[in-house]
Amino acid sequence: MTTQLRSSRVVIIGTGAVGATTAYTLLLRERVSELVLIDANKERALGEALDMNHGMPFTGGVKLWAGDYSDCKDADIIIIAAGASQAPGETRIDLLKRNASIFDSIIKNIVKYNDHGIILVATNPVDILSYVSLKKSGFPSNRVIGSGTLLDSARFRYLIGQNKKINPRSIHAHIIGEHGDTEVPLWSLANVAGIDLEFTEEDRTNIFNSTKNAAYEIINAKGATFYAIALALDRIVTSILQDEGSVLNVSTLLNDYNGVSDVYLGVPSIVDRNGVREVLDLKLDGEELEKFQHSANKLKEEIEKLEL
Ligand code: 2OP
Repeated sequence: MTTQLRSSRVVIIGTGAVGATTAYTLLLRERVSELVLIDANKERALGEALDMNHGMPFTGGVKLWAGDYSDCKDADIIIIAAGASQAPGETRIDLLKRNASIFDSIIKNIVKYNDHGIILVATNPVDILSYVSLKKSGFPSNRVIGSGTLLDSARFRYLIGQNKKINPRSIHAHIIGEHGDTEVPLWSLANVAGIDLEFTEEDRTNIFNSTKNAAYEIINAKGATFYAIALALDRIVTSILQDEGSVLNVSTLLNDYNGVSDVYLGVPSIVDRNGVREVLDLKLDGEELEKFQHSANKLKEEIEKLEL
């Protein structure tokens, strides 16, 4: 059964591994009626569009093409997946200078044609680049969203599921903060059917380290991560287009939130047709609060180095 409810256009900027896999995921799941691929390398976007269009006889009725920024005009959501990705050994923050510089022209080009859509940032470091997108677009913060710690939370749930031999869809557990090295596991909230989960200290360490270091492990093994992030982006897109109001750990602008202001971080947020409708009012304390504030401070230090 398809889950597309109304005519909708998603534009994907950047058709590297993440952008292309996201397009393919949206296509297979028939989430949108129109999908536009844009890349600085036009040939590449054309090639991806051709390859995917040749699969149309086996899928459904998504209209897909390689376009340009003028196609942003009617876009409901513009996903930004453009920019450099981590080489083995690099952190996400190491990408900041390189990727922030291309965001200037990307955002200018988007707002030239679109003033009503939702910008969904996937490029790393995703929290800082979401903040950059907010500042440069002038859009209200509910319409500038980062993929945040949705992927980290999925990894966390998967690993907890493996440990407990329970399907990850039945595990409620959250990673918040930076999508990166300072992210914070909320062990205090991890549960199944409302029942707290017990772990040994060793299990906690192993599960969290595997969650936090997942991207490094995958990049070392195969050069890049793209399947799970594509599914995470599909989840956000669907929550928006279908006005679901799902609670997702996306990156959003925080103000006076557990002592944190004026920074984008991943936190449980209600996502619907307006983007981030509301941030859930988590009351953090102890070590979780300390780590969350540390994550915010680290990103703020990086933001201060940028000219915004
Ligand atoms: C990931 O976590 C690299 O941020 C990307 O898979």
